[in-house]
Amino acid sequence: MLKDDIIKLLESGESSYLSGQRISEQLGVSRAAVWKAVEALRKDGYEIDSRSNRGYHLVRTPDVIDVNTLLHLGTRQIGRRVLYFDTLDSTNNEIKRQSIDRVENGLTVIADCQTGGRGRRGRSFLSPAGKGLYLSILMQPQCSAEQISMLTAWSAVALCDAIENACGVRPGIKWPNDLVLHEKKLCGVLTELELEAETGLPRYVVVGIGINVFQTAQDFGPEVAPIAISLSQALDTVPGRTALACEILRSMDNLYRDFPQARERYLEQYRRDCLTLGKSISVVRPSGTQNGLATGVNEDFALTVRWENGTEEPLSAGEVSVRGLYGYV
Ligand code: BTN
Repeated sequence: MLKDDIIKLLESGESSYLSGQRISEQLGVSRAAVWKAVEALRKDGYEIDSRSNRGYHLVRTPDVIDVNTLLHLGTRQIGRRVLYFDTLDSTNNEIKRQSIDRVENGLTVIADCQTGGRGRRGRSFLSPAGKGLYLSILMQPQCSAEQISMLTAWSAVALCDAIENACGVRPGIKWPNDLVLHEKKLCGVLTELELEAETGLPRYVVVGIGINVFQTAQDFGPEVAPIAISLSQALDTVPGRTALACEILRSMDNLYRDFPQARERYLEQYRRDCLTLGKSISVVRPSGTQNGLATGVNEDFALTVRWENGTEEPLSAGEVSVRGLYGYV
């Protein structure tokens, strides 16, 4: 197969570049066929750099997610069953489909690629194959319905722990639960609550996590690239997605064990990690845009804000722009 032959040639080239002309001559195919095969290899997860006058250079072979490693982690509850898919619309959707008849506490779904990845506030979450870590966890925490709302903030702390363990760098948190590195978004979390139709009581929670791992500016595209960052853009050495997923499952397993009794500990850590604190913010509301200063995070993980007119208010939901983050000035 042409793709395999091209990879063999690029691998034998070690650190140097191989021109399209040279490859086409060696393999007896047209340059257009080489170009097409390189594009297909990129879609398969190979990172191939191309430079005019120099040719192609293999930067990275696809990072394969090894489900067996995840299944042998030995976590108490979270990730005791892990389902892996090459492609899904959304891992959150798959958790819900899997749970129509039987709910399995700790069930984890991972996909290499999502065609309909969802973000908060109805946004989409770009999820190209081989580039990010896209996973969802089903949880049935033993707590009251009100306490469940804290899970979003707790998850942000647990994910900071996981990334710090895997990468040696601790991201910050943009309230309520975006993870941020170098003032750009590294990871988003979409927490969804499923209710019992008859009683209205919580049936389970889905915590959906999307981490940018290997994306380049080109993968993000011109709209997202100025506000997003991947681990490979930020760090010299990046763990594989399997190692990263292991740390996430361990961290979320600890969260499940601690929830909700270790509130003070998670709250303290949340306040330390939260980059929104002390910053000028702006919130778009039906009544118009309001500006203020983020003064604290209260016991319920709500953001306390002092508005320009001097009044203070706890904010438990809403889209907050923070001066200095995501290009907001
Ligand atoms: C956000 O940034 O607004 C939240 C993004 C959450 C994305 C993750 S990727 C895995 C899971 N499946 C989805 O469809 N969304 C979440």
